[in-house]
Amino acid sequence: MDKMIVKSGKQLFGEVTVSGAKNAALPILFSTLLADGKHFLKNVPRLKDIDSTLELLKSLGCEYEWIDSNSLTITVHKPKSLEAHYDLVRKMRASFLCLGPLLAKYGEAVVSLPGGCAIGARPINLHLDAMKGLGAEITLEEGYAKAKINGRLKGSTFLFETSTVGGTENILMAASLAEGETIIENAAKEPEVVDLANYLIAMGAKITGHGTSIIKVQGVEYLKPSEHSIMADRIEAGTLLIAGAITGGEVIVKGCSYSNYESLILKMQESGFKIDFSHSEPIVKVYPAKSWKGVDITTAPHPLFPTDLQAQFMSLMAVAEGTSVITETVFENRFMHVQELVRLGADITPKSRVAVVRGKVNGLTAAPVMATDLRASACLVLAGLVAEGETVVSRIYHLDRGYENLEGKLQTLGAQIKRAP
Ligand code: UD1
Repeated sequence: MDKMIVKSGKQLFGEVTVSGAKNAALPILFSTLLADGKHFLKNVPRLKDIDSTLELLKSLGCEYEWIDSNSLTITVHKPKSLEAHYDLVRKMRASFLCLGPLLAKYGEAVVSLPGGCAIGARPINLHLDAMKGLGAEITLEEGYAKAKINGRLKGSTFLFETSTVGGTENILMAASLAEGETIIENAAKEPEVVDLANYLIAMGAKITGHGTSIIKVQGVEYLKPSEHSIMADRIEAGTLLIAGAITGGEVIVKGCSYSNYESLILKMQESGFKIDFSHSEPIVKVYPAKSWKGVDITTAPHPLFPTDLQAQFMSLMAVAEGTSVITETVFENRFMHVQELVRLGADITPKSRVAVVRGKVNGLTAAPVMATDLRASACLVLAGLVAEGETVVSRIYHLDRGYENLEGKLQTLGAQIKRAP
């Protein structure tokens, strides 16, 4: 199992370009199931979760071929089996996104329930309700959701009681091939939902309102394969910006529009960082700072502060001047990194969904720590950049699920970081 060895003491300087977004690439890969033939996708990040998705698509009859390091073709044929097996779904919750496309295209699907997850229960009840809203009959048997519909799914109005990214993506894909109009209310507004909608539109779907809380879909009878370049990863962009900031360095993050991670930028500015961004180009620059102050954040759906940057922001606050109150409202168990940060000397008191971080301006001290989930791994790497000595982050496979060569990007900026077996 690989570890990451991070040495402190270097301010990061330079430019770095972010990769394609995992959370956009995954639903878009699943959306290819809606249209037989050859799809062409560019800017696809090379990650464990992408490999797991391709494995699942292969089990559903698709063939794929990498054309270059980040571009691939996927050729979709009618699958022999409409079952997404537990062995493949349990590796990655997002696999449940194959439900909508399979059901819409073939009128049935058998998809394993994803099971538990480190950051909380993460139920899929809203995905199921959404499919039922389009007329599907769904039963839960032996750990699987068995869904079917006589004929085509029927468009209708569906109100999500909680904003859900995956739930919105599942119904959006299903509604694209349903009969008549679907109105999705309280839809997730995340940029990744917009990227998915853009690919569906490229395939011939009729969608309006994506990026707002009401999405309208006029169902069509068939979709055709198309090509698309995956949007840049705003979570990786935010992670790299924090890496520059936490080391007191000067870093330019390229490729991702500031508007996709504005909530982070505003909080960093409030904390005392000078940050420039361009309205016309996807460039954000953080300037060197000697100190910054603790500020409070509350995670919430887009465009508010993303839960996927909460752990990384906590590392920044762990070495700020004063106190920061971090409130997690999206997932119920997303503070597992706290105890690891405490091992590095951070002063943090978590209670239920609130963590009080008392910044240590004198810095942190290196220690062996363990990654517990994807974003927690990134937060420990960031803390390692400023924890005096050599921090060893184990279980780095979590990081590999969602970051493409993070250590390489940090090395480019001057960080002393290396992977070791
Ligand atoms: C996606 C992202 C993940 C991010 C999260 C929130 C992908 C592949 N993953 O996850 O990185 O942290 O959005 O921005 O895009 N919920 C229910 N029932 C459901 C579905 C969700 O109660 O059927 C709840 C969840 O438990 C959670 C909240 O809704 O409390 C939001 O979850 P959701 O937006 O669905 O997250 P994911 O799509 O799983």
